[in-house]
Amino acid sequence: MTTLLTTKRSFRYATYVFVFLALSFSASGHSDPAWNGHTVPGSTTPATFTPFYVPPGAKAYDSSSPLIHYSGHWSTVYSSGYHRKSLHSTSQVNAAISFRFTGTGIEWFGNCDRHHGIAVVLIDGLHRHFADAYCARDKPRKQQRIFWDFDLPYGDHTIKIINTGERPGSTKATLCDIDAFVVTRGTDPNIQSLFSSSSHGDFGSSFLEAQTLASTASAGWSLVQKGSTGVHAMQLAIISSSHAIIVDKVEHNPLTISGHPAWAALYNLRTHAVKPLAMQSNSFCAGGTFLGNGTLINVGGNPVVDDHTASADFGDVDGLQAIRIFEPCDKESPDDCEFYEHHSQIRMASPRWYNTVLRISDGSAMIIGGSKKGGWINNATVNNPTIEYFPPKGFHGSNGLPIHLPFLVDTLSSNLFPIAFALPDGQVFMAANRDAMIYDWKNNLERRLPQIPNRIRVTYPMAGTGLLLPLSPDNNYQPEILICGGSDIPDDKASYDISSQDPASSQCSRMVLTEDGIDAGWQVEFMPQPRTMPDAVLLPTGEVFIVNGAATGISGYGNVRDQVGSSNADNPVLTPVLYSPRAAVGERFSSANLPTSQIPRLYHSVATLTPAGDIMVAGSNPNLDRSEIKYGTEYRVEWFSPPYMSMDRPEITEEVPKLQFEGEVQVKVRLPKENSGRFKGMKLWSILRTLERVIE
Ligand SMILES: *[C@@H]1O[C@H](CO)[C@@H](O)[C@H](O)[C@H]1NC(C)=O
Ligand SMILES: *[C@@H]1O[C@H](CO)[C@@H](O)[C@H](O)[C@H]1NC(C)=O
Repeated sequence: MTTLLTTKRSFRYATYVFVFLALSFSASGHSDPAWNGHTVPGSTTPATFTPFYVPPGAKAYDSSSPLIHYSGHWSTVYSSGYHRKSLHSTSQVNAAISFRFTGTGIEWFGNCDRHHGIAVVLIDGLHRHFADAYCARDKPRKQQRIFWDFDLPYGDHTIKIINTGERPGSTKATLCDIDAFVVTRGTDPNIQSLFSSSSHGDFGSSFLEAQTLASTASAGWSLVQKGSTGVHAMQLAIISSSHAIIVDKVEHNPLTISGHPAWAALYNLRTHAVKPLAMQSNSFCAGGTFLGNGTLINVGGNPVVDDHTASADFGDVDGLQAIRIFEPCDKESPDDCEFYEHHSQIRMASPRWYNTVLRISDGSAMIIGGSKKGGWINNATVNNPTIEYFPPKGFHGSNGLPIHLPFLVDTLSSNLFPIAFALPDGQVFMAANRDAMIYDWKNNLERRLPQIPNRIRVTYPMAGTGLLLPLSPDNNYQPEILICGGSDIPDDKASYDISSQDPASSQCSRMVLTEDGIDAGWQVEFMPQPRTMPDAVLLPTGEVFIVNGAATGISGYGNVRDQVGSSNADNPVLTPVLYSPRAAVGERFSSANLPTSQIPRLYHSVATLTPAGDIMVAGSNPNLDRSEIKYGTEYRVEWFSPPYMSMDRPEITEEVPKLQFEGEVQVKVRLPKENSGRFKGMKLWSILRTLERVIE
């Protein structure tokens, strides 16, 4: 067999092997555990989870479709267990299938058992993959996902499947079959802007024009679409120099583990391979942070999904009080890195959906607010106006129980996912709805700050984004907060009075958290476009990269008037904007040279800086479950490369030892040759600052 695997594909191949091996456990005589099966309403007998799923808006093509071309000898097998009751099967070497489709993704479903083997899959005659339909079962397991690719540019594609008739260890010619293809149709980016311009007034035109202008000039910056997250990327964090962790909610993702869809994964930043992570509890709208010892915790979420979407089939457990622990994982091959959950012993003291989790100065996590159950906008009935800590603390008489926080009552209703930062003096800044405060957690004291101007609400579902600007010796590390976007829609408005076409806010509010700064209050500036649900990424240059989000509507799905598909928001903002905090007022925002994306990133989208210095952008899923109706579930990843990616830059020359929390560390840095004279005897910070000026 010729081997033309790229690293990514070879990992994917490994993934399939893994999936089928995992399936084999349940084939060894034990009945499937509930975890791996579903319970039909009224029945308590778990059945095997079936990966075959056609998301709304996607299209299934049965194996007997005239659009599928067969060459060689294929026979048709009929059974009620197959899609449209038929399956095409061959054992002939080099028998092939060819199918042309239009869209951004393709899935191939068929049987697996001991008699199935490896097929070569060609997409557009170019990319070569190997798909293995073997699983250790005597009788076929039906409607299994044999192959998927969600990483295609929108357009016409051809998938060709060629039976190799073999797999390692097999003496007889192996089987290859097809039950159905499922095509992810995607949206034609060329007509997207027509769809996304507002049908409710002339609001849409100005920022669309701005986007068109920006896309024509992209010197210095570049944008590449590459990779697929396999689980929808609702939450994202960099965990090492090679990997990011992705946490989703329970839904019909293509990446599978133990015979059911995964809802967490590790993404290899170098090879773009994804590895599914096992997770017990539903992490829908959880929060997370790293503890001082490098352990990541992901806490809260949603109950078991028991909706008509059949998501209950996944066998997840209630995530509302869950604490999911992920120990430091710095291996290039993170096979042993797993979540640890032990719900009867390690859990929060109260249920939380949409809670913020923040590492504070003693290295522990402060868990802030949330609703006691999932829903939409917060209200007094479901509000959880408390904080708790992990590991739990016994102070203020709490004995580890939640500590009441009046701020979280006063900020109802749009106060979920409060914006929070640990400040250099150990206190905590918090913003929710239109308000802000500094919380002295050691003494349980709130100090209220001036209200955010112009009635702008900045937390869910009127979601803005917040940042602690770079702390610098130049101003004695005085903390300064920047909050951008959100909405001025009143949060007592009924959902049916809110429209996906209501304009978002373009306001950024900035305040220095010193006595003078607080006296001066919030300083207001405006982004070139309004944005709800933006993501803000702090770059090594000290600039802020603002990306994703929508120009109209609010967060969530299925709530307001004029939904697009299920999305409560419309008019995706496709061009990022760069904010230079130290530039003169009026000259801080620029979209010049920034590339424009073709992928809307609305509710549940993410962005992060990577260890290499570029920006990873993923996600968007304003839907209850995986959907391909505009705005669908987005698995494609994009990478924005700032100009400094192609420049000579300081390089850490020796491996950095493990950092102790609050410890000191020496880092050896090689400086760019042409500028090295300028850096002699300088502290790292000033080197970076000087370099920044050089780069500018
Ligand atoms: C870090 O601390 C947490 C909380 O005490 C603990 O559960 C975890 O095992 C620790 N991890 C490491 C690597 O020490
Ligand atoms: C409060 O929110 C919950 C969850 O969204 C909802 O079920 C309930 O009806 C709301 N109650 C009121 C009084 O609005």
